[in-house]
Amino acid sequence: MTDEASRTARPWWRSAVFYEIYIRSFADGNGDGVGDLIGIRSRLPYLAELGVDAIWITPFYPSPMADGGYDVADYRGVDPLFGTLADFDRLVQDAHDLDIRVMIDIVPNHTSARHPWFQAALAAGPGSRERERYIFRPGRGPGGTLPPNDWKSVFGGPAWTRVTEPDGRPGEWYLHLFDRSQPDLNWRDPEVRREFESILRFWLDRGVDGFRIDVAHGLIKKPHLPDAGPVQHIEEDVDTDLPYWDEDEVHDIYREWRKILDSYPGDRMAIAEAWVTKPDRLALYLRRDELHQAFNFGYLLAPWRADRLRAEIDKSLAATTQVDATTTWVLSNHDVVRHVTRYGADDLALGERRARAALLLTLALPGSVYLYQGEELGLPEVTDLPVEVLQDPIWERSGHTRRGRDGCRVPIPWAGSVPPFGFGPDGSTRSWLPIPASWRDRTVEKQLKDPSSMLALYRTALRVRRAQPALGDGPLRWLDSPPNTLVFARDPGFVCTVNLGRDEVKLPEYGQLVLASAPVPQHDDEVWLPPDTAAWWRAR
Ligand code: NOJ
Repeated sequence: MTDEASRTARPWWRSAVFYEIYIRSFADGNGDGVGDLIGIRSRLPYLAELGVDAIWITPFYPSPMADGGYDVADYRGVDPLFGTLADFDRLVQDAHDLDIRVMIDIVPNHTSARHPWFQAALAAGPGSRERERYIFRPGRGPGGTLPPNDWKSVFGGPAWTRVTEPDGRPGEWYLHLFDRSQPDLNWRDPEVRREFESILRFWLDRGVDGFRIDVAHGLIKKPHLPDAGPVQHIEEDVDTDLPYWDEDEVHDIYREWRKILDSYPGDRMAIAEAWVTKPDRLALYLRRDELHQAFNFGYLLAPWRADRLRAEIDKSLAATTQVDATTTWVLSNHDVVRHVTRYGADDLALGERRARAALLLTLALPGSVYLYQGEELGLPEVTDLPVEVLQDPIWERSGHTRRGRDGCRVPIPWAGSVPPFGFGPDGSTRSWLPIPASWRDRTVEKQLKDPSSMLALYRTALRVRRAQPALGDGPLRWLDSPPNTLVFARDPGFVCTVNLGRDEVKLPEYGQLVLASAPVPQHDDEVWLPPDTAAWWRAR
């Protein structure tokens, strides 16, 4: 088989381990307290040692930062907060030299209100060509004082804001499914489509390996914008059909994008952030002529229970197999409570123990895996950030009832014994969110010296996964096992066992123990798998 043919048969992303970098919080290269591109560049050797195949970097574009950069004012630049285009090019080059691919975030559902298109739309007034690129409507009721429909913003409050027209009078309303500073684009407008196709090419020409598509299920709204009814978000509430999520017409957009990706060499790819948990609907995004992957949020949302996880695994595999796609497995990201905290509730030690087991389960499943920065250090959610430091727009929009997502975005502790733990260059004392003093025990520096640390487990597990031909893409076979356990084989010759129950369980010995998330007692062909423990076996 030629190199090209083998790539087509088994493209890299089908088995890859991706690592999400939330840029503000990963590594600060210039000492301003905010992570940046040179910070990432300086830590690439760490990521290579960790053993990831690709990084996904959250938005670094010029932005007023009303939503951590998911409010983009210029899709072809780099915000000075994060560096320059030249820094980006050097980062791509260095990452590629280390065999790490680079994915970037593309935010097509909305722009920033500071984007020149939106500013032009405000200035041009009702009925103008400029307003066509967004979703402007007259209000309802006498004087148009009520929003055009009942849609709610994901972040809280109505999804509409009324503008003051150039003549000074109260005027039309515009739609924003997120913050009021994030107006939704009108994807039925051909110019919007052409512009994003050109933006994709701009970054592909600079060498990126692919895109993570923000709110991929939201671009097309139902015609005539009907009311949605009383039950709307939270964002994760995807079982109610809502007139702004998952409309069929959205697939036309991704067919065009796929043609662009395929026109570049080297298996460029895209992953959808689509909160569509009905697996058959999600599979539609993964048809051969559409996107390559979608985040498996059903798995992320499942509680630490054998039956629930197994159901999610089966559903996802069945759905992706229909369309010959791979499943992705994800436990945490910058929008959800970190999984150590989700799995442990108030018991951090329990959460860590489960997180260790969850890692071995996740890495043994068929397909690819998305890790979120800091999970390799076992970082918990920071639940007690003082309200004065909260920056997530959810805090304000929810009328101070939801604290938002800052607790999973606290900067990474790299080294030393006092905050900000080497987040910035030597001598820097700044970090945009405070880092808990207790993280002195979780720094990279400390964990590298401890063979029983979470970081050590991640490094070993990733090395074994890479070397193990049975892991990554391919089929899975469930083996009979007692209640509250998950046991499956991957061919050739690999078995993963997980005990999610409260008691130790007796299992047959499947072969040679390769790796365990906690010590596993073995006696005479029997294994006693402790609670909340996973183990990998190589068949004899
Ligand atoms: C999903 C992103 O992950 C999240 O951080 C952002 O707030 C929304 N999309 C809106 O862009």
